[in-house]
Amino acid sequence: MRETELTPRDFVLPLFVRHGEGERVPISSMPGHAQLSVDLLKDEVQEIVELGIPAVILFGIPEHKDDVGSDAYADNGIVQRAVREIKETCGRDLLVITDVCFCEFTDHGHCGIVNEKPGFADVDNDATLDILVKEAVSHAQAGADMIAPSGMMDGMIDVIRTGLDEAGFEHIPIMSYAAKYSSAFYGPFREAAESAPTFGDRRTYQMDPANGNEALREVGLDVAEGADLLMVKPALSYLDVISRVKQEFPEVPLAAYNVSGEFAMVKAAAEQGWIDEQRVAMEILTSIKRAGADVIITYHAKDACRWLMVDG
Ligand code: PBG
Repeated sequence: MRETELTPRDFVLPLFVRHGEGERVPISSMPGHAQLSVDLLKDEVQEIVELGIPAVILFGIPEHKDDVGSDAYADNGIVQRAVREIKETCGRDLLVITDVCFCEFTDHGHCGIVNEKPGFADVDNDATLDILVKEAVSHAQAGADMIAPSGMMDGMIDVIRTGLDEAGFEHIPIMSYAAKYSSAFYGPFREAAESAPTFGDRRTYQMDPANGNEALREVGLDVAEGADLLMVKPALSYLDVISRVKQEFPEVPLAAYNVSGEFAMVKAAAEQGWIDEQRVAMEILTSIKRAGADVIITYHAKDACRWLMVDG
């Protein structure tokens, strides 16, 4: 009579790719995860496919950052190279989703082009839209199966949809980070992706954790602009938002991002012997699915698949 069952098909695993060769750089705040150079992806993705995980989401750490994040839309950029490598290795056995954002690629660490006015600097929403389209199209050209814009720029889904269609990628779906909160739970990710802003924060474009109704408004806009999948991020402190979005938009597949800080808390407490990692992680993942998520992006994906194999 169990209502909610996890399966490996529920999961998407985030991967961090870096430049260099034979490089596996462990991420200290995310035990078990590392930045991998492109040549090490082959073994990694084969293991992921064997575990039954259907998809990965890619984050790139480029060799050079600049003020407009130009590696993000370069033909031989880090993400583009990684996509080609994975598609060559796995073909249709593994869906490759690319995160479309600029914070890992800009030297200031913001998610787009920064406009400096006296005493004030902020991301220029509309200037950023142009380069977001370039980035999305170049990911699709490299072979990405799905595009996931995460920068929370207003109007991004609309322009990316048009840009992909015009470039002949009408069939490539967009997963929108529709309700993305300005969250302290992204801390470990910013170490992993080397993307902490050098000044200010992301509060002007990410959402206030105190707002629930606003999430529905953001989601509604993205649906109207043509989002094929929606995302709520983070997951655990926002189960109410996941539930409300699912009830309001039942026809649109919903992803939830069980983010780096949520993973790190479980790992750290488990390492101290204070909690049982397997039981806590599975309880969290089950609660995210119970709340209404159809897809769970999680750093626990590989562990969860192994636990499911042993314990069902
Ligand atoms: C990029 C992006 C972030 C995450 C995913 N895409 C970080 C941020 O907004 O600072 C966070 C994921 C995680 O914490 O696991 N904009």
